Amino acid sequence: MQKAWLYEEYGPKEVLRVGEFPFPSPLPDQLIVQVRAAALNPIDFKRRLCPIFPSDFPVVPGCDMAGVVVSKGNNVTKFDVGDEVYGNIQDFNAQVKLKQLGTLAEFIAVEESLIAKKPPNISFEEAASLPLAVQTAVEGFITAGFKGGQTVFIVGGAGGVGSLVVQLSKNVYGASRVVATCSTPKVEFVKSLGADEVVDYWKTDYEDVEEKFDFLYDMIGDCKKSFVVAKDGAPVVDITYPPSHQRAAYSSLKVSGEILDRLRPYLENGKLKPVIDPSGPYAFMDVVEAFRYLETGRALGKVVISPFPSQSFNSCSFRGVNCKNCISKSRCSGNFGDAIML
Ligand SMILES: NC(=O)c1ccc[n+]([C@@H]2O[C@H](COP(=O)([O-])OP(=O)(O)OC[C@H]3O[C@@H](n4cnc5c(N)ncnc54)[C@H](OP(=O)(O)O)[C@@H]3O)[C@@H](O)[C@H]2O)c1
Repeated sequence: MQKAWLYEEYGPKEVLRVGEFPFPSPLPDQLIVQVRAAALNPIDFKRRLCPIFPSDFPVVPGCDMAGVVVSKGNNVTKFDVGDEVYGNIQDFNAQVKLKQLGTLAEFIAVEESLIAKKPPNISFEEAASLPLAVQTAVEGFITAGFKGGQTVFIVGGAGGVGSLVVQLSKNVYGASRVVATCSTPKVEFVKSLGADEVVDYWKTDYEDVEEKFDFLYDMIGDCKKSFVVAKDGAPVVDITYPPSHQRAAYSSLKVSGEILDRLRPYLENGKLKPVIDPSGPYAFMDVVEAFRYLETGRALGKVVISPFPSQSFNSCSFRGVNCKNCISKSRCSGNFGDAIML
């Protein structure tokens, strides 16, 4: 058995507890990953509050992770034991139940199509912060049919998705002008992400902005107002559900490792920077506090969980489940990619 955060009924964060969950074994197309860092997303608490996606209890929450491959199924071709990988392990697009074993656990199972190799220049914490938010952010540009040279107005530029949308607009999709909203304390931060102008919504109602934009990207669900700053016929994309205006286009993430691979050059050259909320990373035992903070709706970038308990074990808790290093050595550091004799 391994340590995991889990819940056995829907409810507030108090239903969460640390418990024991069986070690996963890989299906032919799956890998087993020792989680080094995870990130929280609003869907993790929305799912915990009510049955949005039917799940069997106990549920181990968490979609995003970065870690080290410790074992793999027979059909896995792209990854090897020891590889550093990251991804969103919950495939919301597949017509199957979500995995019971989410990423707030020491070891998880994930299909190879859902993950990518971690760029070496980013940490496990940074990598874990990206997958679900960046998959969502990218999809909004596709939904809008966004073209380089167009202008974009971003409602909510400071959160997990918004902080990536600002960066993608400028540095990946070639927007000619980027304007984003946020509250007073976050104005300088959103400017530092590349926004040409920031509308401080504590001081200015963005309905009063006179300029009109080619694309309205709404992270908050405020589309009634967004149409006011959109050019006639310009796409207004809302990622909140249900969308806040009947004419807004709802955009939902596509879960795949391929999106992460495509963004790799931008992560390597620093044009896309992971943003970890400065209140964290939260240690594994502080997950309830991390949820409390995320649920305030005020996070700046991503709420990250790290380290995980298996990292500090003196011996390998995964022994006997096909971990090469542990099979060949009597004791291992718990660092599967780089086992050492203790
Ligand atoms: N459709 C999909 O596939 C998909 C995927 C991921 C997320 N979502 C949804 O998208 C929403 C955003 O997700 P997230 O992960 O980015 O959430 P998040 O990180 O919790 O967002 C927090 C940010 O929202 C900002 N904010 C709150 N009210 C605001 C307002 N009125 N105007 C401007 N900014 C405001 C806050 O900034 P201030 O403190 O400055 O207000 C904070 O920085 C959530 O509802 C989530 O469920 C949908």
